[in-house]
Parts: sequence; structure tokens; C-alpha cells
Amino acid sequence: MTNRFTSFFSSKKEHEIDDYYSPDDYSEPQKVLPTEKELKNLRKENALLKKSFFEQNLESIKTRRSVRKYSTKEVDEKTIYDIIEASLNAPATGNIQNYRTIIVKDQKRKNEIGKIALNQCWLSEAPYLLIIVRDDSKVISMYPQDGMRYSIQNTAAYIQNILSLVHAAGLSSCWVEACQNDVLKEYLGISGSLSIDAVLPVGYALEKPHVEKELILDMVFFETYGNRDK
Ligand SMILES: Cc1cc2nc3c(=O)[nH]c(=O)nc-3n(C[C@H](O)[C@H](O)[C@H](O)COP(=O)(O)O)c2cc1C
Repeated sequence: MTNRFTSFFSSKKEHEIDDYYSPDDYSEPQKVLPTEKELKNLRKENALLKKSFFEQNLESIKTRRSVRKYSTKEVDEKTIYDIIEASLNAPATGNIQNYRTIIVKDQKRKNEIGKIALNQCWLSEAPYLLIIVRDDSKVISMYPQDGMRYSIQNTAAYIQNILSLVHAAGLSSCWVEACQNDVLKEYLGISGSLSIDAVLPVGYALEKPHVEKELILDMVFFETYGNRDK
């Protein structure tokens, strides 16, 4: 709200305002209140920023694709750490982050993993492989009935965060699940009770796959399952 005080001070620069007070008047310096017009402009700017952030996210989600051909160009290690750290903010049942990530960079090891992953040898071209390991024990002990499902869902949310951020960083990945799970576990020293949910190559794409999606609004219902009438 504008009153004679705010409109008076809003037209003054900070050093000019100081001149109007003697040190005895106030113990703390007074803040200059923004005018109604300034506030309105700030709100407008904020809305624009928000919109572009939303639009950027829409674009990012829509353009992510699984890539199976990678350049050997190096990937900044910090980017990998940042992506993993940020992805840990995924929603999780009971806020239990029941997953671990093995970062693999060694070429020989990557080659071997490609072979174990049902000969998906293209995996080993990527500078990094992230192995996502799921531990059900804590989630199941907290939720004996539904813990297994929750544990898988938590890990999937984490993986999707990684895939989204990899894409947002200008890199590419592919969720690879098909592998001889037990052989890979043994090879990477993963104990029997844990599972591997994904092998994620991370690198620069050497292809731009076009994947047709069944993106139909008929997949959306209103109020009850199957109801298409709004
Ligand atoms: C659980 C899961 C397992 C997958 N396993 C493999 C895999 O072993 N090899 C592979 O090339 N792609 C795999 N994919 C990737 C899918 O083939 C891919 O996401 C799908 O074709 C859609 O393409 P897009 O990711 O480009 O949208 C897997 C995806 C998911 C979600």
C-alpha cells in the first residue's frame, strides 16, 4: 500500500534518506520500501522467470531419449557428482534412500560389464557407467507388507532423476536393466541380498534417436478410472 511515507522514501536514494535522520531518531537504519509500481514489476519478473523455468523443464522431459552410441569425449567428474547428489532428493518412502551408486570409469571393467549386460557392448563406449544398487532391507523392515514395492519405487524415482539431470547437463544415458544380474553382482563385489536396478552409461551422444511415443490424452481420465468426460 502506498502512503505519504512510502511514496516519499521510494523516490529517494539510500544515501539521501540517511540525511533525514539524526542518529538519535532510530537505532537501526530504515529500509526503503518498494513502491506499488516496483512491486508489480518485481512480481511480473518473477512470474516470467517461473514460466521459463517450467518451460525449460517441459522441454527437457520431452526431449530426453535413450542413447546407445557414445563419444569417448571426457565428461567432467564434478558434473557426475552434482547429478548424483541432486538426484538423492528424489521422493522416497519413509525418506529412506535405499540405493547406492557405483561409479565405474575403468575401461576394462566397463568392457566386462557390457559383456555381462547381455553383450550390450556399446555401454563401454561411455566415459562413465553408474551402477544403481538397491537395498530392500531397511524399507522392508519399516514396511513389512509393502516394503519391496516401495523399495523398487524409491530406486526408480532416483534413477529417473539421474536420467533427467544427465540430459539437462547436455549428456545422454540409457536405463539398462537387461543383464546377468548375479554375475554382475559378483563381478562388482555386491552382496547377495542387494539388487542391481540399472546400469546407466553417461556420456556425449553420437546419435539422436527418434522414438515415437504414444502420447495421447486418452491416457488421462477424470475423477474415476476410465471416465473421459470432464
Ligand atoms: C526398467 C528399464 C529397463 C531397460 N533396459 C534396457 C536395456 O537393457 N537395454 C536398452 O538398450 N534399453 C533399455 N531400456 C530403455 C528402453 O528401451 C527405452 O527407455 C524405451 O525404448 C523408450 O525410449 P526412450 O528412453 O528414448 O524414451 C530400459 C528401460 C527401462 C525403464
